[in-house]
Amino acid sequence: MRDIVDDVDNIIVTEEEIANKVSELGRILTEEYRDKELLCIGILKGALMFIADLVRAISLPLQVDFMAVSSYGSATKSSGIVRILKDLDEDISGKHVLIVEDILDTGLTLNYLIKNLRSRQPASLEICSLLVKKDKQTSGIDPKHVGFVIPDRFVVGYGLDYDENYRNLKFVGELKKEILGS
Ligand code: IMP
Ligand code: MG
Repeated sequence: MRDIVDDVDNIIVTEEEIANKVSELGRILTEEYRDKELLCIGILKGALMFIADLVRAISLPLQVDFMAVSSYGSATKSSGIVRILKDLDEDISGKHVLIVEDILDTGLTLNYLIKNLRSRQPASLEICSLLVKKDKQTSGIDPKHVGFVIPDRFVVGYGLDYDENYRNLKFVGELKKEILGS
């Protein structure tokens, strides 16, 4: 059987760097949301690992909900079309909402989501994105919390996929050229 790690060309963010960053973000968010009603919204499926680790690093009472949107299909370029595939289960009005995202690329997804969620009148609305691509136009989206700024290249792992695969890598990396081409 093929090991998925063999498909990786180079590692961009290691497992250890992710763990340290998640702990650091957890400490910051614990201070920021003390005595506030915090609702963390994970954007599926990419944020699945990040939100699971992040909420455990926040030592406050909090709630978790999920939205699923489609923006990419199976290609490696953003389509610009955002569709809600799964909406929130609960009302967010009056709650302090933290959107937990895997990566900010063109910002089209978050631009749409922010507008949509703001209309539901949360007490506050902030973004925590594990990754941001360097020097990209992000549709005016400026996340309050960012894990890592990475080169503007296609990456997989720790929730991020290529054609629905590689989400289970423990680190973030780039795939070998022959994998992306096939
Ligand atoms: P945006 O709307 O262009 O900012 O893209 C947001 C979504 O596209 C992310 O939540 C990811 O699911 C996906 N995406 C963007 N860049 C990458 C990448 O390098 N690898 C895998 N998925 C990506
Ligand atoms: Mg994706």
